[in-house]
Amino acid sequence: MRSNKVEIIKVTTHVLKEMKNKGEKISMLTAYDYTMAKIVDLAKIDVILVGDSAANVMAGHFTTLPITLDQMIYHGTSVVRAVQRAMVVVDLPFGSYQGNSKEALCSSIRIMKETGADAVKLEGGIEIKESIQRILSAGIPVMGHLGLTPQSINKFGTYVVRATEKHEADQLRADALLLEELGCFGIVLEKIPAKLAGKVTESLTIPTIGIGAGGATDGQVLVLQDMLGLTQEFSPRFLRRYLNLNSLISEALIQYSTDVKNSDFPNAKEQY
Ligand code: KIV
Repeated sequence: MRSNKVEIIKVTTHVLKEMKNKGEKISMLTAYDYTMAKIVDLAKIDVILVGDSAANVMAGHFTTLPITLDQMIYHGTSVVRAVQRAMVVVDLPFGSYQGNSKEALCSSIRIMKETGADAVKLEGGIEIKESIQRILSAGIPVMGHLGLTPQSINKFGTYVVRATEKHEADQLRADALLLEELGCFGIVLEKIPAKLAGKVTESLTIPTIGIGAGGATDGQVLVLQDMLGLTQEFSPRFLRRYLNLNSLISEALIQYSTDVKNSDFPNAKEQY
């Protein structure tokens, strides 16, 4: 029997568009290091996002603002070394693209040259139009990010659901159309009403990837450490935990400590 699924050797912008056209959902997860990225890629997750959420889950910062371009490049390089099939997208960190379009292009070129990633992602709509145009003019694929944009947390002062008011929803829809018109290959929609995400998805020919945006988007993204249950303190409604890795690791560590203290480790077979 022939499958209607898109045959994939390496996920590209073209493959993602084909998936949208065929109604095949796109899976996306974050990764920040070689070991985890290898597992994610072998599980055939379509897109790996080297998210600036590394600032939270890898470095323990409260917001994503402190992570630097050099640090994102370090994470991106580690991930790219592990990946064969997935498309690797690296976030442009706060302060590396908002100043002007030349800065945005230089930051994107550094990411593409030094990490070997496939694309960059940045947050915002009309206010960063020129930066997006300039990055795209250098042949660098760009993914947009609308709705809750964590790099603007200090402006909004809260992580609540976005675009619940009509004027904000209208602006988001206009921004999504603009990003498509400029040439972005996809858009992350974060924490917006499911109905709005569905309307935006229908209005676009490029794929939308949702996080807390309901089931009508073309794909879904989660932070790897959250969905594996490694992180415990973050529990938004949209987060489904597929494992409780935190307690599994804790149990293993306690067992290890007990074995060491009881002189059970190493045993006769575990030495030379
Ligand atoms: O940095 C990140 O992890 C993200 C996702 C939440 C989409 O941007």
